[in-house]
Amino acid sequence: MGDQQALIEAAREARKHAHAPFSHFHVGAALRGRDGRITGGCNIENASYGLTVCAERVAIFKAMSEGQREFDAIAVVTDADRLTPPCGACRQVIWEMCGNVEVVLANLKGQVEVHRMKDLLPLPFDARSL
Ligand code: THU
Repeated sequence: MGDQQALIEAAREARKHAHAPFSHFHVGAALRGRDGRITGGCNIENASYGLTVCAERVAIFKAMSEGQREFDAIAVVTDADRLTPPCGACRQVIWEMCGNVEVVLANLKGQVEVHRMKDLLPLPFDARSL
């Protein structure tokens, strides 16, 4: 289960680097490997909009590019009153790359909610479907 607070704090820190000149919606994510290593990510927007990459995917791709393959939790932090769940594209990527991890949603007010990935993406399409 690990230290949820440390994961949220890492996502809050990552959020400070968000590049969101179009939406002004700053998102931070932090992914924890089974070895305890934490990798942060922020959303990075693009003028073409569609090339924007969410904070969750930035964190996952950073960690994987550094050799990590096994994860147990991901945190998502925003300043929204309604906690921010991962978008559909990120749910697919989290499921495929991280499996049934804990998904910790938090905001700057200190509200926290914990979900399991299998509940956020029921009946997934994945490698078993091919
Ligand atoms: N965004 C994320 O980074 N993660 C989420 O879970 C939801 C949405 C970003 C994408 C875009 O830069 C901005 O938030 C508004 O959609």
